[in-house]
Amino acid sequence: MAKITINGGKKLNGAIKLHGAKNSVLPILAATVLLPGISVIHNCPELSDVEAAVRILEHLGAKVTRENNTVTVDCGDLKNHTIPDDLMREMRSSIVFLGAIAARMGKAFLSSPGGCELGPRPIDLHLTALNELGLNIEEEHGILSCECCDGMKGTDIHLSFPSVGATENIILAGVTAKGTTVIHGAAKEPEISDLADFLNGAGANIQGAGSDNIVIIGTPCLHAAEHTVIPDRIEAATYLAATAVTGGRITLLGAIPAHLTPVMSVLKTAGCELSVKQNEVSLIAPVRLKRVPVIRTMPHPGFPTDAGSPLMAMLSVADGSSMFVENIFENRFRIVDELKRFGAKIYTNGRVAVIEGVKSLSGASVECTDLRGGAALVVAALVANGTTEINKIHHLDRGYERLTENLSALGALIERC
Ligand code: UD1
Repeated sequence: MAKITINGGKKLNGAIKLHGAKNSVLPILAATVLLPGISVIHNCPELSDVEAAVRILEHLGAKVTRENNTVTVDCGDLKNHTIPDDLMREMRSSIVFLGAIAARMGKAFLSSPGGCELGPRPIDLHLTALNELGLNIEEEHGILSCECCDGMKGTDIHLSFPSVGATENIILAGVTAKGTTVIHGAAKEPEISDLADFLNGAGANIQGAGSDNIVIIGTPCLHAAEHTVIPDRIEAATYLAATAVTGGRITLLGAIPAHLTPVMSVLKTAGCELSVKQNEVSLIAPVRLKRVPVIRTMPHPGFPTDAGSPLMAMLSVADGSSMFVENIFENRFRIVDELKRFGAKIYTNGRVAVIEGVKSLSGASVECTDLRGGAALVVAALVANGTTEINKIHHLDRGYERLTENLSALGALIERC
């Protein structure tokens, strides 16, 4: 089994170019199912989750090719309306394919994604909304059999929580529906806007993405599109935290600063100096990080839950105590037990974690519990005295392209073997 070893204590220093956003490219790949032509997607990161999405497309009958970070998808001739169970299990967000497959093929057959490392991940909001759009869904023994004989019909949908995945599924199902779909209480994440931009480039009529209310005027005939995926704001947050914890300095190239506002605000409170240019964000870390009294994870534009774990690791060596309140996923704090192996002092109670900053961490043998938890271990290892061995790194491969190469270029003593 592959692992990463890090000899901590080196200041990170330099510049890196961000990759395309994992959470954008997955729904965009799902959206290609709706387009009867050859779509070209640039800035497509090389990640295991993206490979899983490509395997789903190929199973459906699409022809997919990759050249560096450009992926070409030909969905001209689809034969299948199923997603095999192993692919649903490999990537639980494959549920975002449901709306697109059902809209294109009139039916879809897949297993329910069930629980995941972040706790139960219900899809009730997805299913209720798709049902309101006319999809007949039967769920038996964990299998979803879905059919819409007369196609999707636009309607008003009220989401009780701004679920990212449910908003994407509704957009994918509504974009070619008869009539207009309005999503009230939609998710406002930048990845939603990126999906809408991709589809609008394919002839769709989606208005208001990035706000609470999204209006989708059904357009029966879409065409293929070319699109460049937005930069990954969570990858950005991870490198900022990794640099800050080592007392270093970094410039992120190809960033969209507006997407990083809540993360930059926390880093400023922690004593980091941040500066932005049009497509760049730079950070200079203080000699010792300061405490951040409270961080509450919230739907966008609040502090993103995905950035919580790396910043928690960073604050474990801050001067004073910080507090995290996790409002999105109940199992986010599973990584805390691993962070304690470095000597971090973190106390959890339900959705609250208190981090009592310590002067130093020491290298440890640890394992990733989930993708962003894995990123937290890397952050801790970079500042820890001595050697750290990180196992179960397949979690990191889901979301970080060229992680060891990037950190090594910034000066970290890191190796993958
Ligand atoms: C997406 C992101 C993930 C990010 C999350 C929140 C992708 C591939 N993943 O996940 O990285 O952490 O947004 O920003 O884009 N919920 C329900 N019922 C539903 C759907 C969701 O109760 O039908 C709950 C979830 O259990 C969770 C909360 O709503 O507690 C947020 O989930 P959601 O916004 O849907 O996140 P994902 O789309 O799964």
